[in-house]
Amino acid sequence: MLSVRDFQNMKNNNEKITMLTAYDYPSAKQAEAADVDIILVGDSLGMTVLGYASTTQVTLDDMIHHAKAVKRGAPDTFIVVDMPFMSYHSSMEQSIDNAVRLFQESDANAIKIEGASDEIVELVRRLTDGGIPVVPHLGLTPQTVNVLGGYRVQGNDEVTSQRLLDDAKRLEAAGAVMIVYECIPKEIMEIISPNLDMPTIGIGAGISADGQVLVYHDILQYGSDRLPKFVKHYADFNVAGVEAIKQYVDDVKQSRFPAEKHTYAIKDRTFLPKI
Ligand code: KIV
Repeated sequence: MLSVRDFQNMKNNNEKITMLTAYDYPSAKQAEAADVDIILVGDSLGMTVLGYASTTQVTLDDMIHHAKAVKRGAPDTFIVVDMPFMSYHSSMEQSIDNAVRLFQESDANAIKIEGASDEIVELVRRLTDGGIPVVPHLGLTPQTVNVLGGYRVQGNDEVTSQRLLDDAKRLEAAGAVMIVYECIPKEIMEIISPNLDMPTIGIGAGISADGQVLVYHDILQYGSDRLPKFVKHYADFNVAGVEAIKQYVDDVKQSRFPAEKHTYAIKDRTFLPKI
């Protein structure tokens, strides 16, 4: 399994890092079989697999439940797991307790948290000191979408653009091992990536990030309908899935399924029930 040192070397050697979300055993198995460098058990699972409108309903128990399944499906892949909404904001002690529980019970390799307030930077320091690698997430931070006023590109003025770099430097100094940037102009990423030691992973942040992350259900078009501009589709499971299920329904209705090869036969007809 790759380690944080490997990701650092990949950045230093200009080798791109691949990250993909996975939320359950089969998606994790596929990601590992496809040689994804890092699996993110993102709290986007709230939308992609649980059908919520945002990530704000996802709980710590949800994250642990899904991360354990991912670990079973991808035992040899580096796994990052999201701390969910408000699980690291009430007090430092509560945040640390929640992070330790998530890390230990899921057996993930790092945790991801959104934001860069002084409390978050301190949390990164404390968790790193204790041995939990932390991946911060800046730019569009979905857990605060209601405060940000919607899913929109971040860093579009002098102050917020500067903050994207300065915050990352504070998080890096506190021990963060890599950082996710979501939905920021590519020109900002061109400046940030070479000016941080830790690897940057972009989603809607342009080609200059050291790696890219996308959501499993988005690249495969699996259940997701309205997709952001930054998503590239590599398959259409929505169409393929419905088509396959329609054929099954039709086969049953027309008595074409089950065929002989899907059917068991009794060894001795004398064993049949008597009428
Ligand atoms: O939850 C998630 O899937 C994420 C990615 C969009 C980076 O945070």
